[in-house]
Amino acid sequence: MSRPQQQDAPLVDGFGRRVDYLRLSLLDGCNLRCQYCMPAEGLPFLHHRDWLDFDAIVLTLRVASRLGVHRVRLTGGEPLMRPGLPELVRRIKTETPIAELALTTNGLLLEAQAEPLAKAGLDRLNVSLDSLDEGRFVQMARRDGLEQVWRGLRAAARAGLAPLKINTVLMAGFNEDEVDRWVALTREHALTVRFLEVMPIGEAGRAGLGFVDVSAVRARLVAQYGLEPAQAKVGGGPARYWRVPGAPGMVGFITPISDRYCDTCTRVRLTASGDLRPCLAFDVHVPMGQAIRSGDEAAIEAAFREAARQKPAGHHWEAGQLTRTSMSVMGG
Ligand code: 5AD
Ligand code: SF4
Repeated sequence: MSRPQQQDAPLVDGFGRRVDYLRLSLLDGCNLRCQYCMPAEGLPFLHHRDWLDFDAIVLTLRVASRLGVHRVRLTGGEPLMRPGLPELVRRIKTETPIAELALTTNGLLLEAQAEPLAKAGLDRLNVSLDSLDEGRFVQMARRDGLEQVWRGLRAAARAGLAPLKINTVLMAGFNEDEVDRWVALTREHALTVRFLEVMPIGEAGRAGLGFVDVSAVRARLVAQYGLEPAQAKVGGGPARYWRVPGAPGMVGFITPISDRYCDTCTRVRLTASGDLRPCLAFDVHVPMGQAIRSGDEAAIEAAFREAARQKPAGHHWEAGQLTRTSMSVMGG
């Protein structure tokens, strides 16, 4: 490292929130077509030559860490489709001061990659899985793959990428009735399941998916199972964790709409082509690709500061705001 970590003034937004977390999309393509994320025919994806290359990513993360960013999550699209991913993980862990490196995946390609990723130094992993039922998985994702995801999860456990975290977007009339099966699984296994509210982003704003109030689900589970707050705070995200007394696993609730957490948001996003996205809810970006590709560290820093400056107080989804940009572009 040529310069020590965080030698510059930290990134702070206009509301006094410290920006210390970057979600980095490695590509916008995906091997699933989840109804809330993409149309059946997919989207006009970036060409791979438009992706930031590994040198560019490492440089960006070095600059970001000088500004106080110390946690990074790799996302997509589907990040395991990015060729050479374990090598990128190894480089981030050895060539930048980023302290915590996590990954969000749909798990389809995880069986083969779990061990290389763990060996490369990946700290944590979230797997998105919206149903325990094969037919429903296909209905929502428009592709086969439930068995493949389970094989991936088992490989991740074997590779030591524990505790396993599963994200489930709850939708009325689709998987709402699976909540209790997930809770039962946390009583048998050391896995964390997190229930998410569907946000009106991209396809989800159009697809007419039934909204489930996850705060109400939490209240029901507290009453029914005596869920208690778990001590462990896993990761830096918005979820708070609960457990059935004595259970090895945990249950989390992500409630952007019924119980908003925007005032504690410390993140910005970077798209695969190098646009900074100050907030998931707004179709606004600060272009940083040119600065990154020309290796101009001062311009990279200026772009981060501009994105922090533009970070809004929070979404207006409850008031009918729709977000056009797909989650797969934004960086889930
Ligand atoms: N609302 C809620 N969650 C979403 N995800 C993707 N799109 C949406 C949406 N509109 C989830 C994925 C994955 C994570 C990256 O974000 O299912 O768990
Ligand atoms: Fe792929 Fe994730 Fe979008 Fe599903 S939600 S299509 S897994 S990027």
